[in-house]
Amino acid sequence: MASEFPADAIGIDDFSVYVPKLYIPTVGKFAISRGIEPAKLVKGIGIERMAIPDAHEDAATMAAMSVHELMQRNSLRPQDIGKIYIGTESGVDEAKAIGTYVIGMLEQIYGPGSFQECLTVELKSACIAASYALEDLCCWVAAGGDEGRVGIAVASDVARYPLRSGGEYTQGAGSVALLVKRDPRLIALEDMIGVYTRDENDFFRPPGCSMAVVNGKHSNDCYLDAVGGAFASFAKKAIRRGKLQLREGECVSDHVSHFLFHIPYPRMVEYASAALFRQEWRGLPRWKGVEDELGREPRAEDFSDPGEHQRAEADFSRRFSKSDAFRQAFSSKVGESARISRQVGNIYTGSIYLGLASLAEQNLLCPGQRVCFCSYGSGCSAMVFSGIVREEADCPPGRDIFKRLDQRWEISLQEYEDLHEGGRKESLIFPEREFARLYIDSQGYRHYGYVSQAP
Ligand code: HMG
Repeated sequence: MASEFPADAIGIDDFSVYVPKLYIPTVGKFAISRGIEPAKLVKGIGIERMAIPDAHEDAATMAAMSVHELMQRNSLRPQDIGKIYIGTESGVDEAKAIGTYVIGMLEQIYGPGSFQECLTVELKSACIAASYALEDLCCWVAAGGDEGRVGIAVASDVARYPLRSGGEYTQGAGSVALLVKRDPRLIALEDMIGVYTRDENDFFRPPGCSMAVVNGKHSNDCYLDAVGGAFASFAKKAIRRGKLQLREGECVSDHVSHFLFHIPYPRMVEYASAALFRQEWRGLPRWKGVEDELGREPRAEDFSDPGEHQRAEADFSRRFSKSDAFRQAFSSKVGESARISRQVGNIYTGSIYLGLASLAEQNLLCPGQRVCFCSYGSGCSAMVFSGIVREEADCPPGRDIFKRLDQRWEISLQEYEDLHEGGRKESLIFPEREFARLYIDSQGYRHYGYVSQAP
């Protein structure tokens, strides 16, 4: 895999989003049954509704739904698509690539063998996988391997944690498909990537386990370290390569109009941007204004007891996140990106692209603006890259995502728990004009179909 996005105008031309039709509100019976204050879930975590896959849905059906919509939106024929790369950590097979199931489903519409010359690969790297797919496809296009064809980077996941666990209220499900091509209408990616990788136990899923092992608080810390490290590496590169010329008192984040973070839950985006702006502003003249308001930032060398330093640091970061300077930067560059995630929950590797969808659907992307992607995957690694919004960004038609989210069906706590535990075999909403998992045969092979009409 090449290590950088190419310099030509290559990037994201369009995208589509699929979210299951079922949801459970985090407030109401869910919060009561878990003994949690609703305000904690809505404000402290930031998730109001969690998308729940129906009995016939999985990562493969959701991926097929988002790719099919992308094809329809762009009148793409199978022969126009050279590669479908799918990032997922909810794979449906230990060996067979999820994309082969997806192609099998699509061929039920486009005809047998129609995707024969399309290459498909499944990428696993927790929540960062789809960003690696995007990078790889851009390099393929730049190298001329595309021969005029397009690539599709897909994110598809079911985020599932044990019932009554601390992760339960950060679940969700969905898929995003990104159309990758030369001369894209939406965002041309810039040729620099900041990366940070280290071996961590924040979140992992050993073979045979259906749900991840999570060290919740530690996972937040790993996320912040990795994104901070990758952004520092990105900033260094941007300056070294002369992509950005900083004037006196400026920092790299001043040249970014929108930050898109991985969104496991919307509040995490607030923690991440507070840490990033602190890292960026520290040492600049404006930091004096922050310290005048909040007092001196705690430094490790001022404390003999590391625990005391940690407490002082937590207190300072809480106050920083309420400061005028941060609130202003947050509301203009970050806050709106979490709108869809509040209604969907975590969709793992697609979450950062739900951020892109939130901005696009609210018409907040203006030509010439720089968008900075801060992608994170547990385990752990982060990748920071940027792109410039193109003149034609408003050409791809809207997707009615907010309307579609409003039209979903609320399920009861009992229905949610049955679906979660695999105790429900029949769909709550019978599929119609939809891909569905029909059955799994005695060998474990999954049979999928396109259901055009409910019986
Ligand atoms: P928790 O124990 O629910 O957190 O765990 P908390 O008790 O610290 O509460 C969270 C916030 O709610 C706090 O805000 C509370 O004060 C506030 P803060 O103090 O930080 O400002 N709160 C309230 N606010 C208003 N009214 C109230 C109230 N009560 C409390 N009444 C945790 C949260 C995220 C750790 C847990 O849900 C979890 O383990 N989730 C799963 C792991 C996760 O999402 N980690 C995120 C980083 S790792 C990542 O993003 C990768 C991942 O997507 C996987 C991948 O890469 O594949 C997970």
